[in-house]
Amino acid sequence: MAKLAIEGGEKEVTLSPPNWPQVGEEEIEAVVAALRKSAEDWEYLCSARGGGPTAEFERTFAEFMGAEYGLCTCGGGPALHVAVMAAGVESGDEVIVSPYTWGQTVSCILQQNAIPVFADIDLRTYNLDPKSVEERISPYTKALVVVHIYGHPADMDALNAVAEKHGLLVIEDCAQATGAKYKGRRVGTLGHLGCFSIGDGKQIIGGEGGVLLTNDCDLFEEALMFGQHPLRQSWQVENEERKKWMDSLIYTYRIHPLAAVIAGVQLRYLDQWNAERRANYELLSEGLKDVPGIEPVYVAPDCEHVYHIYSPTFVPEEVEGISRDTYIEALQAEGVPIGHGYVRTPIHLRPRMQEKRWFFGRGYPWAAGRREIVYRPGDCPVAEHRCAETELTLGGGPRWRGDQSALVRQILNAFHKVAENLDVLRRRERDLR
Ligand SMILES: Cc1ncc(COP(=O)(O)O)c(C=O)c1O
Repeated sequence: MAKLAIEGGEKEVTLSPPNWPQVGEEEIEAVVAALRKSAEDWEYLCSARGGGPTAEFERTFAEFMGAEYGLCTCGGGPALHVAVMAAGVESGDEVIVSPYTWGQTVSCILQQNAIPVFADIDLRTYNLDPKSVEERISPYTKALVVVHIYGHPADMDALNAVAEKHGLLVIEDCAQATGAKYKGRRVGTLGHLGCFSIGDGKQIIGGEGGVLLTNDCDLFEEALMFGQHPLRQSWQVENEERKKWMDSLIYTYRIHPLAAVIAGVQLRYLDQWNAERRANYELLSEGLKDVPGIEPVYVAPDCEHVYHIYSPTFVPEEVEGISRDTYIEALQAEGVPIGHGYVRTPIHLRPRMQEKRWFFGRGYPWAAGRREIVYRPGDCPVAEHRCAETELTLGGGPRWRGDQSALVRQILNAFHKVAENLDVLRRRERDLR
């Protein structure tokens, strides 16, 4: 039996994944061409009026995803904030959201001085559980923010049905799921508004940036009103009533046009890169099936996962006497890129939520609520248990493009080596006590 690296043996994983982000000659040439064009036409690299590369990317991105309207922003977070505003959410309104996510799925609600109400997640996809969502609806609920966490689509049919029954708007947070499909359709086109990030580490990047999609002309015009320059509003907003509100009282959420240029090139490769990443992670999943203590990532029927993050599950019952910490430590020593998990603490249990201290101060947005909302341990048991006991992250995140099968094989060898040495880990665990 090979000696574990944690006990002084040779480590199994010697390969590393490619660097990220990956930017090639095509992106460089496109940026240079855009800069040259701007020397002749100063408006070309100005997002204030819309037009130029920004408009081009908005059109191609919306077309690619299957949406009517696209609107670029300077980040995925700003796209979400604009979406919450466009959805008509007002101060003190409640918005239902997952606690198992990146904070900005939630901060877009707080930014509108509205109150997040947390629903629990599905045990297998880690996305919002429609049944739990329905239980949290109150007379003050205005909308849902649905994140497609890690790149796996949420159960949009069921969530849309709940929303429709209660007259709520649905905002999709697709920051980790660009290109993912649910029943053959791309995420971001399944609710009322879809928000994407082209920032660091995403499926395609612009350096920084975001995109909002919608099929609703009214929502598109509303979104224009909050974060775009009046010069742009003046030619794109057609609703006469709305024109009255055109003003410079706005957020500067415009994208840098060169980000749109870079992302525009990368969009041509999105499906290919997602397919490559999917193949690498599916190979990993296949190999992990028989490994004790690990449950590979689940993919729901009719869903195309894009694996922004690969988050398998630790199964303590299968490796009795070995803690998650010890298991991870042994794998890390073998060179496996594994960690305790991504979310770690569900959002409703974080200090800002527990102490109700957010950027506005003076107890806002909760002070604006029409009933008291309290965030308690036990509110979202599935998310809480996952964070505390079972979540893991594994692999190279979005970097696993190209053929990474050699790296995957090394990682699987490391898992098998650890599995053959479980008694060594049990001894180490006992020694720790
Ligand atoms: C789920 C989720 N939502 C929103 C964001 C915010 O996107 P950005 O960093 O482009 O503002 C991120 C960023 O990582 C994210 O992961």
